[in-house]
Amino acid sequence: MLQKMNIDEAREIIKSRLSPARFTHSCAVSEEAVKLAQKYGGDTEKAALAGMLHDIAKDMPLEEQLQTMKKYSIMLDNVENLTLKLWHAILGAAILEHELNIKDRDIINAVRYHTTARAGMSMLEIIIYLADFISADRIFEGVELLHTAIYTSLQAGLRATFEFSFNELLKKNAAIHLDTVRARNELVLSK
Ligand SMILES: [Fe+2]
Ligand SMILES: [Fe+2]
Repeated sequence: MLQKMNIDEAREIIKSRLSPARFTHSCAVSEEAVKLAQKYGGDTEKAALAGMLHDIAKDMPLEEQLQTMKKYSIMLDNVENLTLKLWHAILGAAILEHELNIKDRDIINAVRYHTTARAGMSMLEIIIYLADFISADRIFEGVELLHTAIYTSLQAGLRATFEFSFNELLKKNAAIHLDTVRARNELVLSK
């Protein structure tokens, strides 16, 4: 593996690891992240890479996800343990670090927090979190509103996506990870 991965290498890795539909999603998130980085003055190269790689662990069978997390000594908290959808982000970050030899902490963190968000996110982390909601392959009720908010400002985008995802989680009677609560509190209290 080269010291610094380029987007073509990342695309090939993702193509080999994910289903065609999730490969399409990964390319779409990468493209959306580049657009957001261009709009908000972020690093377009890192945005393209992090977007492409964010779901790298998503198609691994759950048992294999669990085993690989053990291999990398990843400790899960209570909510993570019982919310299987969170695993691929935690594991994905470890795969970037240990298997793809990615050194850039910001890219690793953008993958790590793309499902929960967290307080104190970098611009890249915010961009990947938001791009994952509104990439071109996403079709759900309310996506246009999120798109408008996200292209108004990153703060407006975060406010709208937190509102959307809290509502979804409440409807499903799902647990809400403390990182997401803290991220929203930070935003609400910063006004
Ligand atoms: Fe994901
Ligand atoms: Fe995704």
